[in-house]
Amino acid sequence: MATKTNTTAAQTTDASDIQSKTAEKDSSTMKVDNATVEKDEMKNAPLHKFFVDALKDIYYAEEAIVSALGKMQEAATTEELKDAFEDHQLQTKKHISRLEKVFKSIDEKPEKKKCDAIEGIIKEGEEVIKSTQEGSMTRDAALIIAAQKVEHYEIATYGGLVQLAITMGHDKAADLLEKTLQEEEDTDYDLTEIAETYINFEAEQED
Ligand SMILES: [Fe+2]
Ligand SMILES: [Fe+2]
Repeated sequence: MATKTNTTAAQTTDASDIQSKTAEKDSSTMKVDNATVEKDEMKNAPLHKFFVDALKDIYYAEEAIVSALGKMQEAATTEELKDAFEDHQLQTKKHISRLEKVFKSIDEKPEKKKCDAIEGIIKEGEEVIKSTQEGSMTRDAALIIAAQKVEHYEIATYGGLVQLAITMGHDKAADLLEKTLQEEEDTDYDLTEIAETYINFEAEQED
């Protein structure tokens, strides 16, 4: 009885094997069409659209940050802070070209979308320059905080985008975004170090 059942099961498997092989053959001829459909589906997915929008936002922000860092470098009092802003300006230019690679890796065009948040944070930095005395340590202490607000905006954005890229299987994009995230975190750390080493103490002595 048991043997008979097994034979029937084996016969059924053979039949479904033939069916699946035929289906496989059909699917291979339609492979190109399916890839196109899948790509269109991916591009229309709400999460993909959000991801691309967020990339456009940070692409705009990075461009704005390059010019803001130039102004902050000019306004800074100490050579150490000037150098830190100059170094990060160079890194920020790399962030822009990395973002262009990210767009390319997901078959999207690099486009900018106005980022109100970064405009506001940069405006606050400009206010700091206006409200502090040229050549003072108070100015540097305040500029460091202004710059860290920029970095924290970037860290939040890149941190989220790396996770989304991983979730959606965009491995190359995830790697590129992760590199930038690391540089933003290092910059944030370095700025804290500069502030705590001497700038904050010397600013406290000023009247
Ligand atoms: Fe950046
Ligand atoms: Fe940055």
